[in-house]
Amino acid sequence: MASSDPATWEAVDAFIGGHLLPPDPALDAALADAEAAGLPAIAVSPPQGALLHLLARSIGARTAVEVGTLGGYSAICLGRALGPGGRLVTLEREEHHASVARASLARAGLAAVVEVRVGRALDLLPAVLDELGEGGADLLFADADKRSNPDYFAWGLRLVRPGGLILVDNVVRGGAVIDPAATDADTAGTRRLFEAVGAESRVRATAIQTVGTKGYDGLLVALVTGTAGG
Ligand code: SAH
Ligand code: DHB
Ligand code: MG
Repeated sequence: MASSDPATWEAVDAFIGGHLLPPDPALDAALADAEAAGLPAIAVSPPQGALLHLLARSIGARTAVEVGTLGGYSAICLGRALGPGGRLVTLEREEHHASVARASLARAGLAAVVEVRVGRALDLLPAVLDELGEGGADLLFADADKRSNPDYFAWGLRLVRPGGLILVDNVVRGGAVIDPAATDADTAGTRRLFEAVGAESRVRATAIQTVGTKGYDGLLVALVTGTAGG
């Protein structure tokens, strides 16, 4: 068996899930319904969803914002971490995706925790900030159009309290992030994200390269310290 090919990555994701992730009918149904409804198969993988859940729980998150709902898979992972009084506002451009997500979130018992709002995230975020207030969120997960990631990071800096997390999916893009020939807007936005995060003194951040059922990609994790160099 090759040690580093996509088939191995998928088998290892299954191994990880088999050992560490409990059977999860609500997540299985969310994926099945998303596929049946014709949504693209680009939700976070099960181990990645579990990581989102654990990161949210480990900071005691109660209030979170997600940019890019798709069929609600990651929203279920995050929403479950927030506790019964928690609140996740998740933003989705496509009405069709949002309606699939709402049904899956309701089936997961999260209708009262997760609110799906439809529109372009950059149009919706001002109202989210008005409602939650500066520093009113514990976590922001950006997983929508990658060209806007520098903007989503900037909104995260306003929304997320010191001690909270800003997470950004798909920051490696099969290595395109360092390929000078990759000049598409999404890759350019990803590079600008790294520049913005690297220049921002109010966060401590890293990015981890990932392989698995989602191919070769990466997750950026920024802890908002709120103080320069903290
Ligand atoms: N977080 C999801 C996957 C999101 S896929 C999960 O892991 O389960 C990206 C989603 O972002 C798609 O549903 C797409 O329609 C949405 N999207 C793309 N551009 C957007 C924008 N500008 N505003 C809001 N949503 C957007
Ligand atoms: C795409 C988007 C994602 O959020 C992801 O995790 C994988 C792929 C995409 O737009 O192709
Ligand atoms: Mg993604």
